[in-house]
Amino acid sequence: MAKFMGRVEFPCTIELGKGLEGAITNITKIGYVDGQEGHLVYRGYSIEDLCENSNYEEVAYLLIYGNLPTASQLADFESKMRAERTLPDEVKELIKSLPHDCHPMNALQAAVAAMGCMDHDGLEVTRHVSNPKESVDVERDVAVRILAQTRNAAAAIARVRKGGDILDPNPELDFTANYLYMMSGEIPDETRRRVMDVCLILQADHGMNASTFTAMVVHSSLADMYSTIAAAIGSLRGPLHGGANEAALADIQSIGTPDKAKEWVASRFAQNEKIIGFGHRVYKALDPRAVVLKGHAERLCREHGFNDLYESAATVEKEVTTRMEAAGKKIYPNVDFYSGLVYHALGFPTPQFPVIFAVARTAGWVARVLEYLPENRIFRPRAVYDGAVDQKVVPINQR
Ligand code: ACO
Repeated sequence: MAKFMGRVEFPCTIELGKGLEGAITNITKIGYVDGQEGHLVYRGYSIEDLCENSNYEEVAYLLIYGNLPTASQLADFESKMRAERTLPDEVKELIKSLPHDCHPMNALQAAVAAMGCMDHDGLEVTRHVSNPKESVDVERDVAVRILAQTRNAAAAIARVRKGGDILDPNPELDFTANYLYMMSGEIPDETRRRVMDVCLILQADHGMNASTFTAMVVHSSLADMYSTIAAAIGSLRGPLHGGANEAALADIQSIGTPDKAKEWVASRFAQNEKIIGFGHRVYKALDPRAVVLKGHAERLCREHGFNDLYESAATVEKEVTTRMEAAGKKIYPNVDFYSGLVYHALGFPTPQFPVIFAVARTAGWVARVLEYLPENRIFRPRAVYDGAVDQKVVPINQR
């Protein structure tokens, strides 16, 4: 007899969108990933144009408010972020009290959740406004606060691990320069600030990826913005997503010298193992973020004495793409393959790489949930039940 599961009867043919492949969450104006051609746009602007002609603050404004800011809109935005001058003492204490060898992404997630405990107004917004449309403006202010404070917490976590005191932002510096300053205690030179700014711009938003979807799901229950961002950080952490940058660098470092790179790739293929930093659900062409980052990685590695590392990476790229093309597979480096090299050459400890990603992506996370809020409907997919039916409980002493 066929098993009856709601409207699904077995045996039958079901198209499972494994990993929700092909599922559409909503209609958005925030950003578009053209996976066939390898283009990425934020609100109609290409990432290449934004990297060349804007900065991270302008891009965050663009994503959150919908337009590139005028000078006065940017000044207002900056002053809102600068108002978040310091982390609450309780959050600073929490960061200091966490084991210094825990992963900084876990520490960041804890810090963002703790920030929510300190912001009673921010916590109440979505849950107590009966019409979600009305709460967007208030929620946007909370979002801007979280953007600044997530950066502050990320820098504090990095600083404490190096044995330094937690620094407050310097009111003279922009978002990116402040992030670097709060991590190191030194005001960065323009070249360093600019490279970091490009990295943050490139990672600010990227369609309905796992962490953005996580943020959407959490916020769709009208949970507060802190819970939303803390959950998204958890989702970003894994090596299949934002944690790939640290895993990719570890792999390249493990190769040793460039002459061993081909052999390393061959052994990965022989063992049927994935190469971290390659492949993407949407891109069937080269990830445009990787194109920009590869140029910076090459220059920085050469300047900072990591020639071998860069050459190993470039050989891995060539070898993997050649083998994939021969197998008819469109698998190319993604953003995480070269971002790790850039961060390494800039001197960041490897576990900090996904944290930098999280700071950048906070703009995209908050922009996407704010866009969805006026038409909010809770996310609630279903699974096909294929388990046992008509079971009877046998008392424990008879099992
Ligand atoms: N190395 C080797 N083969 C790969 C790779 C890879 N990195 N990525 C995908 N493939 C192959 C798979 O083996 C599979 O082949 P098959 O059809 O013959 O079985 C096919 O390509 C499809 O792979 P899936 O894992 O099903 O693709 P999915 O869309 O589910 O996963 C993901 C995308 C997670 C990015 C995957 O490509 C991967 O694991 N890459 C390595 C981890 C990584 O770099 N993650 C960062 C992504 S970018 C970001 O999130 C910021």
